[in-house]
Formats: sequence, structure tokens, C-alpha cells
Amino acid sequence: MKVMSGMRTHSCGELRGAHAGQEARLAGWVQRRRDLGGVVFLDLRDREGLTQVVVNPGDVDPASAAAAGEVRAEFVVAAGGVVARRPEGTVNPRLATGEIEVRAGTLRILSSSQTPPFAPGDEAAVDEALRLRYRYLDLRRPRMYRNLLLRHQTTMATRESLDRQGFLEVETPMLIRSTPEGARDFLVPSRVQPGKFYALPQSPQLFKQLLMVSGVDKYFQITRCFRDEDLRADRQPEFTQIDMEMSFADQGEILAVTEAMISDVFTRVLGTRVPRPFPRLSYADAMLRFGSDKPDLRVSLEIVDLTDLAGESGVAKFQEAISSGGVLRALRVPRGAAASRRDLDELTALARSAGAEGLASLALTSSGPKGPLVKHLPRGVLDAIAARTEAREGDLILFVAGPAAASASALGRLRLEVADRFALRENGTALRFVWVTEFPLVEFDASQGRYAAVHHPFTAPMEEDQPLLETSPDRVRARAHDLVLNGVELGGGSIRIHEHRMQEQVFRLLGISPEQAQERFGFLLDALRFGAPPHGGIALGLDRLVMLLAGEATIREVIAFPKTASATDLMVGAPAPVDPELLREVHIAVAEE
Ligand code: AMO
Repeated sequence: MKVMSGMRTHSCGELRGAHAGQEARLAGWVQRRRDLGGVVFLDLRDREGLTQVVVNPGDVDPASAAAAGEVRAEFVVAAGGVVARRPEGTVNPRLATGEIEVRAGTLRILSSSQTPPFAPGDEAAVDEALRLRYRYLDLRRPRMYRNLLLRHQTTMATRESLDRQGFLEVETPMLIRSTPEGARDFLVPSRVQPGKFYALPQSPQLFKQLLMVSGVDKYFQITRCFRDEDLRADRQPEFTQIDMEMSFADQGEILAVTEAMISDVFTRVLGTRVPRPFPRLSYADAMLRFGSDKPDLRVSLEIVDLTDLAGESGVAKFQEAISSGGVLRALRVPRGAAASRRDLDELTALARSAGAEGLASLALTSSGPKGPLVKHLPRGVLDAIAARTEAREGDLILFVAGPAAASASALGRLRLEVADRFALRENGTALRFVWVTEFPLVEFDASQGRYAAVHHPFTAPMEEDQPLLETSPDRVRARAHDLVLNGVELGGGSIRIHEHRMQEQVFRLLGISPEQAQERFGFLLDALRFGAPPHGGIALGLDRLVMLLAGEATIREVIAFPKTASATDLMVGAPAPVDPELLREVHIAVAEE
């Protein structure tokens, strides 16, 4: 950054040995003040870096000398002087400006500061609640500025890439009717229409589909979405999507456009090449081999199906599981034979918490297979298990028997857990993208007693599965796609239904009556009667993308002003009660709890 304002000639990260002898004016925050026998050393900080300013009372006017005495941490000051090479032995190689210092001729205090609750220059861990309460101080930390910068570069690269690929950015409204994305809506009361409410968008889903009906052809938007749901490390009540939709495109084209955009972003932001095309997995394969619909492919371990061997295994639990329609699956843990009793107990507890009835294990030691299963398993079965899992001496094999879904998710959890315990994950910079496709269209929601859309109700079923819509809806696969990076769901989308009859049929399947459908989505059903092109799209979570680019563990670290797990903004104190008069104006009465 080149700064040339009246107050500054350079940023605090800019000066080098080659500037020695030049006049410079800097402005910034005092990170540290040291007084060495009357000579005051200030570390001056701005977003670009840190420069040492030396104030020698003998060299400056009385006001500057007084200022040097007065400044404390986080005061804002302006300093002018001459750039000088630091004396021999005082060069700081860890600092970009470490070769030089600015010998001040003037120093002015522009703003004073109370003692801050934490030092922005200090790398030590600070309680997150304190950081969020004083977020403006927290954002002074170099790491946080780097995250804001990464986010800016990501959105710039996204816009450039999509523009180049023919996409048009179109804004859609924030005050809308409910869009079903599976979460609760945030509601906004109408003042002019008593008793009526807007919903904040959970996504621009229906608007982008309507833009396709309008002939926009290729739409995108970097936009805020709102969902009132339980929060986690990668979930916020308001978050940002890179939302896209295209007409006359098949699924392959949507994936290719997305890959090109991701590749442009990684090149621009990290300077890394992302190999394309990304691998693809069907949902069924992902669940079978990785026990998850967002597999972390930095872990190469795969789950193996042994259901056909359960009958002859001699293990009653395995036999019972398959006779009641379940499966027997296993996971090889390389070098896991040394696992302790405690390891195995903890893994068993994890498997149980993920829905498995229990966990069986077999260690392949130098003196042969060990574990409670050994006395039951016939030699032939033991050999077949070792062959199929590719287990070798020194390995451990974990077995789960039971219903397919619970066994898959238990082994999926175990796969990640053993990867951590036995250091089986690729290093921190690995980028393992994968597309997961062919999700089920619907799943039965036992609590509601009806089917619910797995993605959303506008997702098209796969053509070859359409006959199953009436007979066995849970076997219908959707033309949906999720993008997964290192085990994190980055985005999701689908080919949409563009024929009103099919849309009506899917609404019926989801237990939405024709009247309800007309009431809630009449505008969409109408639009589908006026020449809707085949279309589809995707939305990526920008916060999650930047989190992964920045190597952070939560999206809160890449959002300027995030909320806590209880959806509170600790800085502004939201949500908050409002003046009863304001409530009356919007026709709301708050019920006493
Ligand atoms: P979906 O609901 O899968 O799809 O959302 C797309 C992506 O948005 C991100 N995301 C979130 N990020 C942070 N906090 C949240 N609460 C949150 N919820 C979702 C995730 C997710 O993969 N309209 C469809 C897209 C489409 O069909 O085109 C949709 O919103 O990264």
C-alpha cells in the first residue's frame, strides 16, 4: 500500500534500509512504549505492519517531548522524522521494517486510549467473549486483519471469475416470504399491514429460479442469508453465500463452472493450483466407503463391507445383525494393533454415541490375531477379512454390525477419530475437494409422519428414478450435488424442477396440499407455467470457504462482527428489548413467559 496523505508519507510496514536518509511521516497505534534513560522507543502499528520510532527529547520540540512522555499503549499518534538504519546489533530480522527506525523530529498525539482489556499486539489467547465484546480492538490484531483481507480477496476473485464466465450479479430482496431451507425463519413485523410479517431469506433460492424464468441465464450474488438454527463452529444465524444459478445447463456444467471459480479463488488468494476436475462420489458410495456425506479425503482409510461373511463368522452378534436386515462393516487402522485398552474403550463409547450397538476389534500382532473374536472366527473367514480390509501385521480391525445407516455413521466417526489418534491425516495444507451427488430426494421424518426434502422441495429427481416417486419415494435419487473440502460441506445445489406438474407432484409427496402449495408457492407454480427453462445451480458458504483458506477452525474468525453460540452480538448487545412504543407501532404484544 502506498499512502501519500497529508498525515502520512508511508505505512508502518513499508520502510526498508533503502529509505535511510529520507524524511517520513507515519501515523498509527502505539503497540509498545519503552523509555530507555529518557530516550523513548515506540512501536508504531497500522494494518500494514510495525515501525520503531525513536524520540530523543534533545532532538524534538517541547510539545513532542511532552507527547513522548504521555503516550501509552493504543494511543493514536503521528510521527515525523528521518529514516535511519538501526545501530549494529539492534537490527530485528523478524520484522519487515527491522533494518530501520524513524528518528522523530515531531510527535503528536491524535487520540488517547484507556488501558485496553487486551493487547492487540499480543499473540496470547484471549477469552473469546472479551474479544467479541471489544471486536474493534480484536480486529486490530494482524491475524484478524489478514482474515479480513483474505475474505476481500476471495470475494474479488469470485466476482472476477463469475463475470468472466458470463454471470450477472443481481440483488434479491431481504424482506420476503418464507423459503424452506430447513431452518426457522427470522420474522419482521409489518407496520403498515397489522398482523403480517416478512421473513428474512434463508437463501435467495426462489428468486434465482424466477430470474431464470426471466431469461437472465447466468446469475450470481454474494449475499447474506438468515437462518434461526442451532449454532456450531461453522454455522451463524446470518452468513454469506456465493449463490449461483444457470439455465440450459446440465449438472456437469454447473460443477465445471464452480470448479473454475474455486480454482481462480485459490490461485488468487493462496497462489495454489487446485487440481481439476474434482473427484465425484455418489451419496451411496460416500456413506458406504467413508460413513459420511461430507467425507474428509485427507484420511485415506476406507470402510469395508463384510456383510456376506457375517453368516459364517461364528459371532452371534454379527449373525443377529444380518438376520434382521443389517450389515457388517469394518475399518482397518494401520499400526493400530498397539491400541491400549483405554483407546478401545473410548472408541467403543464413540461408536455407541454415533448409534452403533457396540464395537468389536481384532489386533494383528506378531504372534497372530488377538482379541475376543479370534476364538469364534473360522480361519477362512479370518483370512477373507484380512484380505478384504488389506490388513497387515501391526494393524487393528474395527467391526460394527447393525442397521446400515447407524453402522455407516458410527464407522464414519471412528474413521476420523482414529485418523486423529494415530496421526493418519494428510498435513495441514492438503486440499481434498470432492463432489457428492445422487443424494436421496426425500427422507421420512418420523416426528412429522411424512417425507421431507433432503435438499429443498425444488430439487429435481433423477430421470430414471421418476417412476419410483409414487411407489417407493425413499429410493428416488435427486439431481443434487454437494461440494466438500477436507470434510467440510462448502456448498450444495441441484438441477431444479422446471415443470409445474412435477413440482406439484413433489409438493404432494412432501405432504403439501395443492391449496397450501398455491398459498405458499403460487408465484413459483405460476412462473413455471410461463415458459421456464431447464435450470440448476449451487450456493457456496463464503464464510466456510474463507475459514478453510485462512486455516481457521471456526467461521467466527473470518466474520468481522459475528455472533456467539447463543446468537448474541456481545458488542452491540443484540438481541435486546425494545421500547414498548415501537412494539405497539408494529402491532406486537410480548407474552409474559
Ligand atoms: P444450503 O442450505 O445447502 O443450500 O446452503 C448452501 C451453503 O451455505 C452454507 N451455510 C451456512 N454457512 C454458515 N452458517 C449457516 N447457518 C449456514 N447454512 C448454510 C454452507 C452450505 O453448504 N438454496 C440452496 C442452494 C441451491 O440449491 O442452489 C441452499 O441454500 O456452506
